[in-house]
Amino acid sequence: MEFLLGVLLVQSWLVCLAFSFSNFTDQHALLAFKTEIKIDPNNILGSNWNTTTNFCNWVGVSCSRRRQRVRALELGHMGLQGTISPYVGNLSFLVRLNLRNNSFHGPLTHQIGRLGRLKELILADNKMEGIIPPTLFHCRMLQNISLRNNRFSGQIPEELGTLSKVQILYLNRNNFTGTIPSSLANLSTLQIIRDIGFFTESNRWYPTKFNWKFFEFASNFFAPECQIRGSIPREIGSLKNLNLLELSKNNVSGSIPSSVGALKSLQRLYLDGNKLEGLIPQELCQLSQVGELSLQSNVLFGPIPACIGNLRHLQQLDLSSNNLSSSIPMSLWTLENLLFLNLSSNSLGGDLPLQMRMSNVMNNMDLSRNHIEGSIPPTIGSFKILTAINLSRNSFQGSIPKSFGVVVGLEFIDLSYNNISGTIPKSLEALRSLKYLNLSYNKLSGEILNRGPFVNFTAESFMGNEALCGQSILQIPTCKIHNSEMMQIKQIFLKYILPIIASIVLVVSFTYIVIKYRGSKTQTPNLVDLAPIIEHKRISYQELRDATNNFCDANLLGVGSFGSVFKGVLADGIIVAVKILNLELDGAFKSFDAECKVLRNIRHRNLVKVISSCSNLELRALVLQYMSNGSLEKWLYSHNYCLDLFQRVSIMFDVALALEYLHHGQSEVVVHCDLKPNNILLDEDMVAHVADFGIAKIMAQNKTETQTKTLGTIGYIAPEYGSEGRVSTKGDIYSYGIMLLEIFTRKKPTDEMFTGELSLRQWVSASLPSKLMEVVEGGLFTTRGGTTTTQGIILAIMELGMECCKESPEERCDIKEVVVKLNKTKMQLLQNRGD
Ligand SMILES: *[C@@H]1O[C@H](CO)[C@@H](O)[C@H](O)[C@H]1NC(C)=O
Ligand SMILES: *[C@@H]1O[C@H](CO)[C@@H](O)[C@H](O)[C@H]1NC(C)=O
Ligand SMILES: *[C@@H]1O[C@H](CO)[C@@H](O)[C@H](O)[C@H]1NC(C)=O
Ligand SMILES: *[C@@H]1O[C@H](CO)[C@@H](O)[C@H](O)[C@H]1NC(C)=O
Ligand SMILES: *[C@@H]1O[C@H](CO)[C@@H](O)[C@H](O)[C@H]1NC(C)=O
Ligand SMILES: *[C@@H]1O[C@H](CO)[C@@H](O)[C@H](O)[C@H]1NC(C)=O
Ligand SMILES: *[C@@H]1O[C@H](CO)[C@@H](O)[C@H](O)[C@H]1NC(C)=O
Ligand SMILES: *[C@@H]1O[C@H](CO)[C@@H](O)[C@H](O)[C@H]1NC(C)=O
Ligand SMILES: *[C@@H]1O[C@H](CO)[C@@H](O)[C@H](O)[C@H]1NC(C)=O
Ligand SMILES: *[C@@H]1O[C@H](CO)[C@@H](O)[C@H](O)[C@H]1NC(C)=O
Ligand SMILES: *[C@@H]1O[C@H](CO)[C@@H](O)[C@H](O)[C@H]1NC(C)=O
Ligand SMILES: *[C@@H]1O[C@H](CO)[C@@H](O)[C@H](O)[C@H]1NC(C)=O
Repeated sequence: MEFLLGVLLVQSWLVCLAFSFSNFTDQHALLAFKTEIKIDPNNILGSNWNTTTNFCNWVGVSCSRRRQRVRALELGHMGLQGTISPYVGNLSFLVRLNLRNNSFHGPLTHQIGRLGRLKELILADNKMEGIIPPTLFHCRMLQNISLRNNRFSGQIPEELGTLSKVQILYLNRNNFTGTIPSSLANLSTLQIIRDIGFFTESNRWYPTKFNWKFFEFASNFFAPECQIRGSIPREIGSLKNLNLLELSKNNVSGSIPSSVGALKSLQRLYLDGNKLEGLIPQELCQLSQVGELSLQSNVLFGPIPACIGNLRHLQQLDLSSNNLSSSIPMSLWTLENLLFLNLSSNSLGGDLPLQMRMSNVMNNMDLSRNHIEGSIPPTIGSFKILTAINLSRNSFQGSIPKSFGVVVGLEFIDLSYNNISGTIPKSLEALRSLKYLNLSYNKLSGEILNRGPFVNFTAESFMGNEALCGQSILQIPTCKIHNSEMMQIKQIFLKYILPIIASIVLVVSFTYIVIKYRGSKTQTPNLVDLAPIIEHKRISYQELRDATNNFCDANLLGVGSFGSVFKGVLADGIIVAVKILNLELDGAFKSFDAECKVLRNIRHRNLVKVISSCSNLELRALVLQYMSNGSLEKWLYSHNYCLDLFQRVSIMFDVALALEYLHHGQSEVVVHCDLKPNNILLDEDMVAHVADFGIAKIMAQNKTETQTKTLGTIGYIAPEYGSEGRVSTKGDIYSYGIMLLEIFTRKKPTDEMFTGELSLRQWVSASLPSKLMEVVEGGLFTTRGGTTTTQGIILAIMELGMECCKESPEERCDIKEVVVKLNKTKMQLLQNRGD
C-alpha cells in the first residue's frame, strides 16, 4: 500500500516536472521561432502568440493533452516570411510540422534531426534553399515528406532509402541535380510507397541502372512540370500497379513505348504537353481500365487506332493539338461512358458517320480545327446532356440539323468557319440555356431568329454569312418586305381562318358520330376497352393463375409483410409482378376496389405502375409493372452487385421525385408509410421506382391489430409513428433520410452494431464532418475524379440525410428541398466526370 502510494507520488511529481519543463522549452522555442519570421502587422500570429495566454492555445499550435507538449505546428497558408529557427529542434514532441504555402527561405536547419517523433514534414510551396540536411534521416518516424516547389538543390541523399516508414515523398519542382538514389529501392520491400512526385534537372530522367522494382507497388506516378527530357523508358511497363501516370508538361520526346500496354491497372494517363512523336501505339487499347487519356499537345501523327473502342471505361479523351490524320474511327462513337472528347487542332478528315451513336453522357465535344467534311448528322440530337459542341474551322456542309433543338442543355455552340448552308432552324429558339452561339463565316441564309436565347446574340454570332437577314442591330440587311408580308398572311391564317375551319370540321364530325352512335349502339365496342389494353382491364383470378403458373414457387419473387409477390406473364406477353395481399378476406370488397382505382390513377415515372387489380372471395391482388433489376436491398447487400456513387445519388433522386409526387403532386396526399430499400425497385435502365405506395391505407382500412402494428418497418419508422401513431408525410421524410444514410454507409438501421444508445443516425452524426470516411462505404471514395470533391459531395448528402431524419417532425425538411439539392449534386457529379 505504502509502496503504491509512493509510486503515485513519484508519478505525479514527474508529471509536474514535465509540466514546468515543457512550459519553459516549448514556449521558449516557439517564441524563438517567431523572432525569425517577419510578420505582417495584420497577421494574426503577431498578436496571438504572446505570453498572456497558454502557448497551447496559440494559433496553429496543438499540444498533447496530458503533458502540454507541442505535437503539431500547422502554419500553412499564412503569408509568413523568414527562416526556420533552429529552436524548432527543441520541440521534441513534435509530430507534424506543416509550413506549406508561405515564403520561408534559407536552408532547412540541421536541428530538424532532433525531432525523433516527427511523422509529417510539409514545407511545400516556399522558397527554401540549400541541401536536404543529412540529419533529416534521424527522424526515423517520418511518413509524409513534401519539399515540393522550393529551391532545394544538390543531390538527393542516398539515406532517403533508410527512412523505412515513408509513404509519401514529394520532391518535385526543386533544383535537385544528379540521379534518384538507388537506395529508394529498399523501400519497395515495405510495399508502402503510394505516391511519388518527381523532379531532377539532369539530362536523363532515370539512371540506367535504376531499379524499377522500386516502383512495382506504386499506384501513382506523377512528375508534371519537372523538365524531364529524354524518351519514356520501355521499363515503364513493369509498373503493374500504377493507377495514375502523369508526365504532363515536360520535355519528353521519342515515341510512346508499346510497353505501356502492360500497365493493366492504369486509370489515368496524362502525357500531354511534351514532344512525343510517332503513332499512337495499338497497345494503348489494352488499358482496359483507363478512364482519362490525355495525349494533347504533342507531335503524334497517323490515325487514331480503330481499337480505341476497346477502352470501355474511357470518360475523357483529349488528343487535341497533334497532327493526327485520317478519319475518326467509327468505334470511337461506341464508347458509352465518354463525357469529354477533344480532337481539336489535328489533321483529321472524313465525315461524321450518319449512324454515329454517341454516349448518352457526352457533355463536351470539341472537333474544331480539322478537315472534317460532310453534313452534321441529325443524330446529334441523341446526345442528351451535351452542353458544349465546337465544330468550328472544318469543312462541314449541308444544313444545321433541327435536332439541335432537343439538346436542351446546350450552352455553347460553335459552328463557325465551315460551309454550312440553309436557314437557321427554328428549333434553336428552344435552347433556353444557350449562352454562346457562333455561326459566323458559313453560307447560311434566311432570317435570323429573334426569340429565346437569340434576343441576346450580337452581330458577331452571324457575320460572314452573306444571305442572312434580320434586325438592323445585327448589322445585316433587314429581311425583304415580301418575307414579312408572307409572315403576316401566314399569321392571319393561323390566327383567324384556321380556327374557323377547324371548328366547322369538328362540329360536322361530332354530329356524324352522334348519329352513327345512336344508330348502331349495340355494335360499337365499349370505349373503355379501346384504351391501351393494360390500363384499366380487370384481370380474372384464372388469368392470374395462368400467368403465374398457378402461383408456383419458381415464380415467387419475394415475401413481405403485406404479402407475396409472383412474377407472371399475361396472355398478351406482358411481364408483370403479382402482389397477393394478406388481407382479412371477409368484407371490405368495395373499399379495396375503390382504393385500387385510385392507385391505378397515380402515375409517375418513378412509381411502380399499378396495372390492374383482382379481388374475389379467395384473394386480393395487385398487378404491377415488373422491374427486372430487383430491389435496392439486393443491390446494396448481395454479393456481385455494386452501385457507384452516381448510381446511388441517381436512385435517391428518383425516389425523391416519386415522394414529391405522392406528397404534393395530386389533389389527395398519399403517405407511403413504409419506405425502405426493399420497396425501391430498379428497372432495366436502373431507374428507381417506388413500390407499395398506398397499400398502407388499404391495410389500415382492413385493420386487424397485428397488421396496423406492422405498418412501417422497424429502423425506418419515424419515432412519432411508434409513440403516437401519427401518420404524416413527415414520417416518409424520416424513412427517406434513414435510407440516404444507409445507401452511402451500406449499414442497415437494424444492423447489430446499433444496439442500446447507438443508432445509425447517431453513428453518422458523430462522424460528421471529419471522420466521414470511416462510415461511408469504402469503395465510394475510390471513384475516379477528385476525392476531395467526392468527399464534399458525400458530406453534403449525409448532412441532408441528417436533416431529413430529425427527431421532431416539424424540423425535417420538405421533399421539395431534397429534390432540388440532389438534382444539384447529380449535375455536379456529371460535371466532375467531365472536368
Ligand atoms: C507556466 O508556469 C507558470 C508558473 O510557473 C504557471 O502559472 C503557468 O500556468 C504555466 N503554464 C503552462 C502552460 O504550463
Ligand atoms: C495576446 O493574445 C490574445 C489572444 O490570444 C489577445 O487577445 C491579446 O490582445 C494579445 N496581447 C497582446 C499584447 O498582443
Ligand atoms: C497560399 O496562401 C495564401 C495566403 O497567404 C492564400 O491566399 C492562397 O490561397 C494560398 N494558396 C494555395 C494554393 O493554397
Ligand atoms: C534549444 O535549441 C537551441 C538552438 O538549437 C539550443 O542551443 C538549446 O540548447 C536548446 N535548448 C534546450 C533546452 O534543448
Ligand atoms: C500522410 O498523408 C496521408 C495522405 O494525405 C494522410 O492520410 C496521413 O494521415 C498522413 N500521415 C501523417 C502522419 O500525417
Ligand atoms: C537552379 O540551379 C541552377 C544551376 O545550379 C541555377 O542557375 C538556378 O538559378 C537555380 N534555380 C533556382 C530557382 O534556384
Ligand atoms: C538495402 O538495405 C540493406 C539492408 O538494410 C542494405 O544492406 C543495402 O545496402 C540497402 N541497399 C541500398 C541500395 O541502399
Ligand atoms: C524544353 O527544353 C527546351 C530546350 O531544350 C527549353 O527551352 C524549354 O523551356 C523546355 N520546356 C520545358 C517545358 O521544360
Ligand atoms: C481542346 O483542345 C484545344 C487545343 O488543345 C484547346 O484550345 C481547347 O480549349 C480544348 N477544348 C476544350 C473544350 O477544352
Ligand atoms: C502533319 O501531317 C501532314 C501529313 O499528314 C504533313 O503534311 C504536315 O507537314 C504535318 N504537320 C506538322 C506540323 O508536322
Ligand atoms: C471553338 O474552337 C475554336 C478553334 O479552336 C476556338 O477559337 C473557339 O474559341 C472555340 N469555341 C468555343 C465556344 O470554345
Ligand atoms: C440575356 O442576357 C441577360 C443578361 O445577361 C440574361 O439575364 C437573360 O436571361 C438572357 N436572356 C436569354 C433569353 O438568354
